[in-house]
Order: sequence, then C-alpha cells, then structure tokens
Amino acid sequence: MQKIVVFTDTHMEPEVAAGKFDPDVQLQKGIAHVNEFNGDADRVIFCGDLTHSGDVASYEMLQKRLEDLKVPYHLLLGNHDNRENFLSVFDDAKVDENGFIQQVIETDCANLILLDTLNGPPYNYPYSHQGLLCERRLSWLDGHLLSAADKPNILFMHHPAHNTGFAAMDTIKLIDGEAFYDLVTRYENVRHIVCGHVHRTISGSHRGIPFSVFKSTVGQMPMLFNVMDFHMEVNEPSAYGMLCISDESVLVQTEDFELSDLKNI
Ligand SMILES: [Fe+2]
Repeated sequence: MQKIVVFTDTHMEPEVAAGKFDPDVQLQKGIAHVNEFNGDADRVIFCGDLTHSGDVASYEMLQKRLEDLKVPYHLLLGNHDNRENFLSVFDDAKVDENGFIQQVIETDCANLILLDTLNGPPYNYPYSHQGLLCERRLSWLDGHLLSAADKPNILFMHHPAHNTGFAAMDTIKLIDGEAFYDLVTRYENVRHIVCGHVHRTISGSHRGIPFSVFKSTVGQMPMLFNVMDFHMEVNEPSAYGMLCISDESVLVQTEDFELSDLKNI
C-alpha cells in the first residue's frame, strides 16, 4: 500500500497583502499536521502553483519551509510558477529529456506520473494561465503509459483536463484536454488523475477515469459556478488530500487540517 499526501496551490509569496492568508503560515500548519498525524505517508506531492508570482524569493521561502517536512516530497508546477526560477532554487529537481518537470515514481502497486502543464516560456498572461501538455510532453507520457503495460498509473497534474463547472476556471483548464484524454483512454492503465488549480474539493470521473481535485492551503473557490472571476476567495478551512493506493483500490480522503483538534480525542 502507498499512502500519498497531496498539497496543492501553496502560492508562496514573501509580501502578503493585508487581510489575505499568509501562505507560509498556512503551509507551516499543514506540514505540522502531516508530521504529527500522517508522518507514516510514503511521500508528499505538491500539485503546482507552488508560488504566486514565480519569483526566486518565493521558491527560496518554500524550500526553507519544506525543511520542516519529515516525509519525502516531490514538486510539480502550475500556471503561477516559473520553470527557470524554480530550477534555479530546486536545482536537483527531476526533469525529463526536454527540460520539463516531469517524472515517473515507481512504487510496488502503481507508477506515480508527475506532469508539467505549465504553458511557458514565454510567460504570456493571461494566456499562460491555461495549461498545456505540448506534443513533446504528451509523447513522453505516451511512452511511459506504453511501457507500464498492465501496471496501474496515477497521474498528478496542476490543470484539470476537463471542465469542473466553474465558468472562469473552465476557460483556463488544460487547453489540449481532448488530446490528453484521447491518449490516456487508449491505454487501460490510468487508474486515477489528481489535480489542483481550482482551489476546491471536486471528484468524479471523465471519460471513464476517476479524478480528484483538492483544496488549496490558502484561499478556496466559493461554490459560485457562473461568475467569471478567477480571484474569488472564500474563508473556508484549508486542506490537504490523501490517496491510499493498493492493488485493489484508490481511497481518496481530504483533511481540513485547520479544523482538526485530534489531540482532544
Ligand atoms: Fe492556484
């Protein structure tokens, strides 16, 4: 069995506007919770939007905070990240043969495939807020799904490749989502897809493959489906997700770590 903790959308930034969550404090709380109650996890995966502005100072801040985490971790990128600045700080990060932050982690019960959906360089906003798996990245994924044969694969990627029901966020999903799903449904070995980006707990299936989207460690998206605003934020507790993967099942949990008062149980 593999126990995987998932943090997403940590949006680290050194200067925090008045009245906003401090992302470093939020992450500190989440990491403390994992260390105390889920320190037996096999690994922690951070599902993109590691920083808010993609600047070096924010990556350094994240690196410093991650020194607290007692579980091995892996990082992937989102639309608020900058690949070059990320690599200048996390210089030992795994990159594929084309320089994308992608890797396959082989475990006894499944391969964990971490994808890089960052649409840049050039970083051209708002266009770059959409996710992209270009031909080279899809080809890399194709090769790994092919070689996995019957072994199950769990995919981790920042951008959902399908609509999630939030009008604004649906305009900045993975822009080549149809090509992505044409590829992954060609194989019968993708058991689950994990995403961030929406800042909301969402689960379901798309074209027959189950997916989970987890909350951010900072602000959450309110349940207002038809408002064209990317920046809506509601004061719900922050959370991390958890996958327990066995030969027979993928169990998905979420932990609102700010609500927990486990010491009193
Ligand atoms: Fe985000």
